[in-house]
Amino acid sequence: MPCTLEELFAEARKAAAFAYAPYSRFRVGAALLGADGRIFTGCNVENRSFGLTICAERGAVMYAVSRGCRSFTAIAIAAPDSPVPVPPCGACRQVLSEFMSPDARVYYGGSSAGRVDLTLGALYPFDSLHDLAVSSA
Ligand code: THU
Repeated sequence: MPCTLEELFAEARKAAAFAYAPYSRFRVGAALLGADGRIFTGCNVENRSFGLTICAERGAVMYAVSRGCRSFTAIAIAAPDSPVPVPPCGACRQVLSEFMSPDARVYYGGSSAGRVDLTLGALYPFDSLHDLAVSSA
């Protein structure tokens, strides 16, 4: 890995500072490590029509794909307003599964020093629509 998970987490924490979260006051940052070594970050962007909110993780995926990267080996997620580590929501797990393999690392933390280090497969078993996935990578 071209950087450590803790270094990737530091990028996620920097991205969280850009969160647009006036409704929840809950900032989140995400940093994806591309298979090509590039890092792509995202932050949550809320909307006054609450359901239109985009999570940090999905924001990072949209940014990465728009920059030509479609395969990721790890994601770090920083939730500085939470005392406990915050894992990706169900919708984000599905979106991440499009571009990450089950052995890709998902590393997340809150405001304290504790981190959780899991694989996407552990967080998202029984991958929905698995058989429809394009095997491009
Ligand atoms: N949020 C994320 O960006 N990622 C997560 O993993 C959990 C939740 C955002 C959505 C919303 O803006 C705020 O956190 C509160 O749910």
